[in-house]
Amino acid sequence: MSIKREHWGGTFGFVMASAGSAIGLGNVWKFPYVTGVNGGGAFVLIYLASILCVGLPVMLAEMAIGRAAQSDVIGSFKHFGKNSLLPRFIGGYGLGLATMLFFYGSYGVGCVVAIISLLFFKFGWGFAGFSASVVPLLILSYYAMIGGWFFIYTGKALSGDLRFANVEQAKEVFLDVAGNGSMTALFTLIFLLCCAVVCWFGVQKGLEMASKVMMPALFVLIVVLAVRGVTLEGATKGISFLLKPDFNKLTTHGVLEAMGHSFFTLSLGMGIVVTYGSYLSKKQSILKSALWVCILDTCISLLAGLAIFPAVFAVGMNPGAGPGLIFNILPVTFQAMPGNLSVLWNTLFFILMLLAALTSGMSLLEVGIASAMTQWHWSRKKSVLILTIIIMCLSVLSSFSNISWESLPLIKDFLVASFGTVKGSFMDQLDYICSNWMLPLNGLASAVFVGWIWGAGKAVRELYRQVPGEPMVALTKAERLKVVLSRQVPIRSWAFFVLFVSPILVLITFLFATGFFS
Ligand code: ALA
Repeated sequence: MSIKREHWGGTFGFVMASAGSAIGLGNVWKFPYVTGVNGGGAFVLIYLASILCVGLPVMLAEMAIGRAAQSDVIGSFKHFGKNSLLPRFIGGYGLGLATMLFFYGSYGVGCVVAIISLLFFKFGWGFAGFSASVVPLLILSYYAMIGGWFFIYTGKALSGDLRFANVEQAKEVFLDVAGNGSMTALFTLIFLLCCAVVCWFGVQKGLEMASKVMMPALFVLIVVLAVRGVTLEGATKGISFLLKPDFNKLTTHGVLEAMGHSFFTLSLGMGIVVTYGSYLSKKQSILKSALWVCILDTCISLLAGLAIFPAVFAVGMNPGAGPGLIFNILPVTFQAMPGNLSVLWNTLFFILMLLAALTSGMSLLEVGIASAMTQWHWSRKKSVLILTIIIMCLSVLSSFSNISWESLPLIKDFLVASFGTVKGSFMDQLDYICSNWMLPLNGLASAVFVGWIWGAGKAVRELYRQVPGEPMVALTKAERLKVVLSRQVPIRSWAFFVLFVSPILVLITFLFATGFFS
């Protein structure tokens, strides 16, 4: 039974859903803390440059693949890559690398490299698509857990339980929440169920409708919080921390983190953009939509920075507190702000986080659903049900290993036996594998695939499908120049970035992130 492909109702709905997918924890949680850790303005500048040079070209590439193939991410890669020999070459090379790793005693990593190489050798580009449809499900398993914490924190904010006098009190409460596996698992389930309900109703009635309601609410909330932040007495220090580049504070690690983060925040390499692109009808414009998504995503990251840093500086807190910035520092900051309105600011802030996490969470789930529906012909409801159960099982592992591995000794032993050591929780392991290995590799696959396998020329035709071509002979010299500038220059720059710049930059990020280069 083949299931008819659903489509977005309109361009606004598509932009809201794609922006909803892009705008998530990456913007309101990770961007502020990595900016804080990496010294502020200079990091932001590199981040903006990599959105422009790597993010936007790869996003256009992924949208074009999806829309042209009108299939899920596995089907799209299989369809356009069936005659390519590159996977065999890379698979063979990977097997050689795995043998070397075995030789040097890295059995765990050697096994992983061998399995991946064999699969790539056997299934070709379809395997790259498969990897892009699995990674969002892995990410969702811990994303949902953090979403679950936001539910808990919203409840605490509303009942005035986040009025901390100092960071130690805030840390104690966070450790209580993170260390309570059953409560974390319960709220993770609630978060997952919210995503599942939206996906259950399909593209137009589920994803599009939910995004059209949630995204404007998110924009209003973040603007309110940013205005509050920048109008505080002593806010200028925080504003200049975010916007004034100081290159002395920038390290190589910061540059690479900025590049990697631009990928995560735009939901690239996760199959989402390909899947959402496949729900675009041939009449809708990819170019404008992608540009809007990048602009909205970047604005929200900057607004999140403006909501947080001026306040953090105004009350003399530490901006470089790392991942705990949101849970440990912000509630104390809001409490110390004048006006005694910490309940209001905490509540608005955690609702904002929740909305951002939910709109991304549903897109992460949708990738797997689209693949199950297209590849195995499952119904949407069956796909939602089965995938939610699988993800929940993985989430339980994350939920119970945040503070200690005591409840999961067998899994810990297995990880130690395979990789020599476990650092952090199950979530940390998954995040490391997804962010440092799978996302850059998938992104690299998208850029190489579009530029070199499918062909930049065909991708350009897909991008410009609904832009009418001008009969050049009938034009005056000045008009021709205008056409060349408005059309040829963007096409050529895009092709240059997608053929050379993006793959090279993503490859370098990958090699550093995984420790091949140091
Ligand atoms: N792009 C999503 C985020 O930034 C996954 O959180």
